[in-house]
Amino acid sequence: MISLNEGYTSKFEEASKLIEKNDFFRVFSHYDADGVSSALILAETLRRLNKGFHLSFLRSMEMDVIRESSSYPIILSDLGTELSWELKSSGIVIVDHHMISGPLDNEYINLNPRKFGYDGTKEACSSTVAFLLSLTINSSNYDLFPAFLAGVIGDKQNIGGFNGINGMIIEDLKGKYPFTKDLNIIGKSVSEAIYLSIEPYFDGLSGDMEASRFFLQNLTIDPDTLLTNLRTDEKEKIVDSLTMKLVKQNAAKEGYETLVSDIFTFKDLGLTGNQISEYFDAAGRNGRMGLPTSWYMGNEDAKDEMDGLSTKLRKEALEQIKKSFESRKEMKNLHFTYVENPYLAGITASILMLYLVRSDKPVIALYKNKGTKVSGRATRELVSKGLDLSRAIGDAALGVGGHGGGHNIAAGGEIPFDREDEFLQRLNEGLGEQFGNP
Ligand code: C5P
Ligand code: C5P
Repeated sequence: MISLNEGYTSKFEEASKLIEKNDFFRVFSHYDADGVSSALILAETLRRLNKGFHLSFLRSMEMDVIRESSSYPIILSDLGTELSWELKSSGIVIVDHHMISGPLDNEYINLNPRKFGYDGTKEACSSTVAFLLSLTINSSNYDLFPAFLAGVIGDKQNIGGFNGINGMIIEDLKGKYPFTKDLNIIGKSVSEAIYLSIEPYFDGLSGDMEASRFFLQNLTIDPDTLLTNLRTDEKEKIVDSLTMKLVKQNAAKEGYETLVSDIFTFKDLGLTGNQISEYFDAAGRNGRMGLPTSWYMGNEDAKDEMDGLSTKLRKEALEQIKKSFESRKEMKNLHFTYVENPYLAGITASILMLYLVRSDKPVIALYKNKGTKVSGRATRELVSKGLDLSRAIGDAALGVGGHGGGHNIAAGGEIPFDREDEFLQRLNEGLGEQFGNP
């Protein structure tokens, strides 16, 4: 049973009533895996109700664009919960899980789990909220589960097991959607899967096909074996060797935990939950946010296109990770590096943090354009020692005329073009204070 507290349950009912009594909605969502998944759930739910809607994807909360649509009820998904927007409309529903900032939100139907005592970093993301809303509207919408899961995986809320609200949903639907612990690499042949593996990242194998084939030959496994045809004993050999590899490269704990994880296989879709999440992420980051919804509504060409985009994204990311690792710089309380593409900032910071640099300080990736985009990633161990990257990046960005925020373990920001050095200095100092190491 999915049992939420009374306040949260009645908020979902309020949102459901608003949707019931209106005919047309303006939906805005974020372009990452969670945003795209939650948009799919919302769009499909509205379509099943025969409601009209116009869905747009944004990189961030672009208030000017949103305000232009205020003659319709608005659904804002995965774009943050800033309550100082002064947005007026016949109804506003917030489907989000980020930190809440700003004054009281009496005029909005705010479904952010943080408002009701739940943890929006570990136990519910925007796809969770969208799925709960969809189930409140009609319990037969449970078949949107794959999209819910894709969002949860995209936001890494599956690492170390499903918690809280996510855990309740998985438990409730496990009869329909069972899962098994399995090797978590994605590809057609096993050598391709290791060569293209980013999470986990195998130093010396990821990004190097020859090395990946050689590694498998040493284990007396044919590198061309289809992943689906691997025998259990072969899988065990691979898991043992890859675990050793992760130990040698000094990967963080959550790095190992992704090697074997809960794998959901959706036979009718021909994909696992992890694959769907990757496909959605790749579609979003390549500006093709419509593909997941189109595929879900039956367009098989959209699946092939997402497959191509996902391979392209993985190759680009692998190259960027290598370059950024080689050119990284170290300060007392952080590592920093540059990336050549804004959508590779988060993934590069994350892989360097979990798999490549010693995990005793966070990694910051910067992308220079008219302004500078910043992405920071930490580990659970650092967070347990008092690190709050959201506060550190937020304060340092504000100090140089920018802005930023996010989660204690993963945060980002934007700063003016010429203020990078000062930003890094301030961030270094702020982190030092958090670590008691000023
Ligand atoms: O905007 P949002 O909050 O959904 O983004 C969270 C980001 O933080 C995602 O890119 C997700 O992959 C990342 N994350 C992470 N490590 C975690 C949790 C989230 O890198 N443990
Ligand atoms: O962009 P990136 O994936 O690094 O974002 C990590 C987290 O920081 C996300 O939760 C994102 O919503 C948040 N963020 C933010 N303000 C920004 C940039 C990112 O709150 N200016």
